[in-house]
Amino acid sequence: MIPDSIENTIKMLAQEDYIVDRSLATAVFLSLKMKKPLFLEGEAGVGKTEIAKVLAKVLGTELIRLQCYEGLDMSSAAYEWNYPRQILEIRLHESNGQIKKNNVVEEEIFGDKFLIKRPLLRALEHNPTGQPPVLLIDELDRSDEPFEAFLLEILSDFQITIPEMGTVKADVPPIVVITSNRTREIHDAVKRRCLYHWVSYPDFARELDILKRKIGDINNKLAEQIVEHVQVLRNENVFKKPGTAETLDWAKALQVLSQTELSPSVIESTLGVLLKYQDDIDKILTSNK
Ligand SMILES: Nc1ncnc2c1ncn2[C@@H]1O[C@H](COP(=O)(O)OP(=O)(O)O)[C@@H](O)[C@H]1O
Ligand SMILES: [Mg+2]
Repeated sequence: MIPDSIENTIKMLAQEDYIVDRSLATAVFLSLKMKKPLFLEGEAGVGKTEIAKVLAKVLGTELIRLQCYEGLDMSSAAYEWNYPRQILEIRLHESNGQIKKNNVVEEEIFGDKFLIKRPLLRALEHNPTGQPPVLLIDELDRSDEPFEAFLLEILSDFQITIPEMGTVKADVPPIVVITSNRTREIHDAVKRRCLYHWVSYPDFARELDILKRKIGDINNKLAEQIVEHVQVLRNENVFKKPGTAETLDWAKALQVLSQTELSPSVIESTLGVLLKYQDDIDKILTSNK
């Protein structure tokens, strides 16, 4: 069920322990209501991918995920013809001595049976449940620009044209979530077709809430110290700031080490959970001396 208000969007996501601020909840709510793709940009580990997973869960629908990478093309993203099987089929016809007209064979081998469906096509094809799936196009900034151009048709009309077959159009538009870690700018044309939201790091209260929900048995004092420390670290001039994911990892590491509160020595020895660049670690260690 699509929520009927921003408040209910917040509650719905919280059912799966996803904690949003009002501005992100508004973007999610509008995207669901207006059936427009949601474009989420932000640093790594702020919960962009997670929101698509949580949406699929709370809406009780399928999550179709397309992980982008350099060189991603249509055949891996949308569809591809099963060439070896097509050849086999043609040989079979030949060896059976069946003489069919060229166009009949062509019609058969360019049919559903020989089509390998990739995430984008699967998200658009007829689905008997009538429930739109959540289509997650993850880390679009990793793909190349020609791929973005190809996405445009899909995002504006929710359809894909397969030259040999025709146009596949979604009867119910999928719920589309696109994420980018902003390693490069995504083209305006893609953004224009979406509702855009910059996902920022959570503030103290929200991050504490997330931590307590995700790591149920953590003691209050330690949880507060962890969040405070991470929040301060984010204000330091480091190359790669820790995201919520790192906060959660750190809390888990401290639990494994049976720590009940933070001490300078334990912070120092576990800094690698929060910071992933040696330069950043060195910088923090020397500034603490
Ligand atoms: N607002 C949030 N509420 C609950 N968990 C969150 C939130 N933001 C991040 N997380 C947690 O942080 C982790 C990393 O999030 P992820 O979606 O992978 O980040 P991103 O895709 O932005 O790099 C996830 O495991 C998720 O549980
Ligand atoms: Mg992600």
